[in-house]
Amino acid sequence: MATYCNIISCGWLFLAGFSLFIHTLAQTDNYIVHMDLSAMPKAFSSQHSWYLATLSSAFAVSTIRSTITPTSHSSSKLIYTYTHAISGFSAHLSPSELEALKNSSGYISSFKDLPVKLDTTRTPTFLGLTSNSGAWQASNYGEDVIIGFVDTGIWPESESYSDSGISGIPKRWKGECESGTNFNASLCNKKLIGARFFNKGLIARDPNITISMNSTRDTDGHGTHTSSTAAGNFVKGASFFGYAPGTASGVAPRARVAVYKALWGEGATSSDIIAAIDQAIIDGVDVLSLSFGLDGIPLYEDPIALASFAALEKNIFVSTSAGNQGPSFETIHNGIPWVLTVAAGTVDREYDAVFTLGNGVSVTGLALYPGNYTSTQVPIVFLDACLSEQLNNVRQKIVVCQDRNFSLADQYENLRNANITGGIFITNFRDLEYFILSEFPAIFVNPKDGETIKDFIKSSTKPQASMEFRKTNLGIKAAPSLTSYSSRGPSLSCPFVMKPDIMAPGSLILAAWPQNVEVMRINYEPLFSNFNILSGTSMASPNAAGVAALLRKAHPEWSPAAIRSAMVTTANTMDHIRGPIKDIGNDNQPATPLDMGAGQVNPNKALDPGLIYDLNSTDYVKLLCALNFTQKQIQSITKSPSNDCSFPSLDLNYPSFVAFFNSNSSRLGLTTVQEFHRTVTNVGEAKSTYTASVTPMIGLKVRVMPEKLEFKAKNEKLNYKLIIKGPRQLNESVVFGDLSWVDVEGRRVVRSPIVASGLPAKALSS
Ligand SMILES: *[C@@H]1O[C@H](CO)[C@@H](O)[C@H](O)[C@H]1NC(C)=O
Ligand SMILES: *[C@@H]1O[C@H](CO)[C@@H](O)[C@H](O)[C@H]1NC(C)=O
Ligand SMILES: *[C@@H]1O[C@H](CO)[C@@H](O)[C@H](O)[C@H]1NC(C)=O
Ligand SMILES: *[C@@H]1O[C@H](CO)[C@@H](O)[C@H](O)[C@H]1NC(C)=O
Ligand SMILES: *[C@@H]1O[C@H](CO)[C@@H](O)[C@H](O)[C@H]1NC(C)=O
Ligand SMILES: *[C@@H]1O[C@H](CO)[C@@H](O)[C@H](O)[C@H]1NC(C)=O
Ligand SMILES: *[C@@H]1O[C@H](CO)[C@@H](O)[C@H](O)[C@H]1NC(C)=O
Ligand SMILES: *[C@@H]1O[C@H](CO)[C@@H](O)[C@H](O)[C@H]1NC(C)=O
Ligand SMILES: *[C@@H]1O[C@H](CO)[C@@H](O)[C@H](O)[C@H]1NC(C)=O
Ligand SMILES: *[C@@H]1O[C@H](CO)[C@@H](O)[C@H](O)[C@H]1NC(C)=O
Ligand SMILES: *[C@@H]1O[C@H](CO)[C@@H](O)[C@H](O)[C@H]1NC(C)=O
Repeated sequence: MATYCNIISCGWLFLAGFSLFIHTLAQTDNYIVHMDLSAMPKAFSSQHSWYLATLSSAFAVSTIRSTITPTSHSSSKLIYTYTHAISGFSAHLSPSELEALKNSSGYISSFKDLPVKLDTTRTPTFLGLTSNSGAWQASNYGEDVIIGFVDTGIWPESESYSDSGISGIPKRWKGECESGTNFNASLCNKKLIGARFFNKGLIARDPNITISMNSTRDTDGHGTHTSSTAAGNFVKGASFFGYAPGTASGVAPRARVAVYKALWGEGATSSDIIAAIDQAIIDGVDVLSLSFGLDGIPLYEDPIALASFAALEKNIFVSTSAGNQGPSFETIHNGIPWVLTVAAGTVDREYDAVFTLGNGVSVTGLALYPGNYTSTQVPIVFLDACLSEQLNNVRQKIVVCQDRNFSLADQYENLRNANITGGIFITNFRDLEYFILSEFPAIFVNPKDGETIKDFIKSSTKPQASMEFRKTNLGIKAAPSLTSYSSRGPSLSCPFVMKPDIMAPGSLILAAWPQNVEVMRINYEPLFSNFNILSGTSMASPNAAGVAALLRKAHPEWSPAAIRSAMVTTANTMDHIRGPIKDIGNDNQPATPLDMGAGQVNPNKALDPGLIYDLNSTDYVKLLCALNFTQKQIQSITKSPSNDCSFPSLDLNYPSFVAFFNSNSSRLGLTTVQEFHRTVTNVGEAKSTYTASVTPMIGLKVRVMPEKLEFKAKNEKLNYKLIIKGPRQLNESVVFGDLSWVDVEGRRVVRSPIVASGLPAKALSS
């Protein structure tokens, strides 16, 4: 599996292995079937036996002339029985079997099993985590919190899963360590406390498939990387071929790791994902980190939405990746109102190389070439476009290219194939994550430094220069910035709830790696390493999951919605040099809430947010009702046959706001008034007073009632209204602002982004 996402479409190569699995059998397919448990006859001892009998009688109808006995047939057709994540099962069915099943008592709905794709350290320090104060101290590094990962598995021998300094396994834990190919249960310890694998859905779709590693062992690397990002223990002397040297650690280094392998080199499918989350709920994880998603499906058919609703009801916090399809609007996945949806930002670590010209002048550029390079003066030549036909007789040279009128990707490809000594790329392109991990010695410099290099070449008769790699620079540039690949809101699955929620480090993240999984190739030779540097929202979700684990430990009484609220309302909107966080995907303009959510997660502030916006499953049901979903659709999410839709409301008690001004109906008059009701809970000092402050929004009048909230007790709840008056149809497609509740000392600022949208608003439905 190529983990090095090479050129142009970031993440594509990496994702390919997981999305290429396209089912080709026209007739039969896997289906996820929702059943109404209240219709189960008392005679059945378990859901499993009821489902078997249901399938069996359905097949009796559809296979009247078949010689197969219905019972054995049905047990071979049943893939999984689900008891927690959804209520129902998955089965491999022909069209006539599916039709017959639809007539069964208790049948609610069904949908096709869908393929799923992955969204492919410095991080803890970058987030402000230090050992003697803040969230690490308050949570004792996330001690005893169990984080579950549904991913590609784990490399248990990695030092990141050492259990040194970690206490005995919590008694409440019900998970286990399953043995399998090259995976012995004794590989688990007090750190890695659960390892299970799920591939029955994959095999049911294609019985001829060969599972190359039938166990939780990670043969891809993604799962090892994500789980160590969130919860890896401290590892001294970690580095990536000499880059980023130091002590590596996850965000919650004392949290426990439980791994559910459901994403395989051979493919990945919803039925396995639901089975994995079902088991994680039963086992008793506290936090789930999911670095994958499905695009373009309604909430009631999205396996992550279904299973995470069940998780929420069990008080499990779910962190998900926004996707890598940015920078266009409406590209986000996992825009699910009851999970945290995480965008990806850069970190302040820069990987530099020094290019020293023959005249002694040196320029610094970006580079992450992992090979060895002996720095000597060699001839350099400026070829501008660097077309392949220009690249004869340059083998012993450093070739300088400029991408003004040409694609950097093409130039990179051309130089790679030309077997040159080194390459200098003069470029303005800012999304260099996937280029700088180069397969040949290459440095990426900005146009200003490019002029210095070009001038030198022009003015010398025999220009020469040298390259020096492995110069890691910390904290020098404006960071974080939002990456351009990070998927953007609004979420089509529910545009009424602002997504993404927050941003977390996702680019060039150093974390553990299986020692026998190729990192990349240099001169056709594979390279191996115990650590790898990867980029993607896949890396951002576990960073946020780690923060949630710290908060769960520090505030065990907080609900998942409260933890999310604390992360959202305390997020940073400023970068390290105190300018607004920039969007690399939009020419470094300030990032908006549809790009980065409320901003960069700030664990130390989230520890003490002052106020929280809480929510429970009843609130989400009111939202589902207001989305005009049918009772059956709502039931497939909640599992409950009675969902009270007497008070439908899109006005969820969420820590952000989305107001629509998109009506062209002249019946409605010239102005529209949007009113939001919120309830905040005081989790700070008993006696505290907060004052509202709103930023001006072009073309809109924003008002808060009341403007002051005076709390007299801890956990006291107070209500307020946010009223936005605007035109029937907004001129701009979107306008942004925010509402902050500021306490009298100005110590706490409880900030909520506001999005006013002139775009159409309709939730996806099938
Ligand atoms: C389902 O039931 C309907 C009426 O109850 C019947 O017309 C139809 O043939 C049944 N379908 C199957 C596949 O058994
Ligand atoms: C697992 O490993 C332990 C210790 O190395 C060994 O004693 C045991 O036999 C192994 N079990 C299996 C099933 O291989
Ligand atoms: C599986 O393999 C068998 C025997 O090689 C073959 O007859 C059958 O068509 C294959 N099935 C699929 C789904 O490829
Ligand atoms: C994978 O392992 C499980 C459990 O050990 C076993 O039941 C299953 O048959 C194996 N599947 C394959 C394809 O080898
Ligand atoms: C670089 O040099 C080191 C030390 O000599 C060696 O261990 C390593 O394999 C070399 N790396 C490559 C990519 O050749
Ligand atoms: C190349 O780009 C420059 C500006 O960057 C422009 O002036 C010039 O016309 C372009 N040349 C071609 C051949 O497109
Ligand atoms: C690349 O060039 C080096 C010497 O510069 C040579 O040893 C090597 O064989 C060349 N490789 C290819 C694929 O041409
Ligand atoms: C959710 O909270 C409301 C009060 O805010 C309460 O009436 C309702 O019963 C709660 N629902 C659940 C499922 O706890
Ligand atoms: C739901 O249906 C009502 C009545 O038709 C309509 O007014 C409302 O806009 C719909 N809501 C959504 C979210 O589409
Ligand atoms: C409103 O505008 C949309 C397109 O912007 C159009 O499709 C629709 O028919 C319009 N409705 C009315 C009532 O004018
Ligand atoms: C919106 O556009 C209309 C017509 O172009 C203009 O008259 C009005 O001033 C604009 N409103 C704002 C707030 O920019």
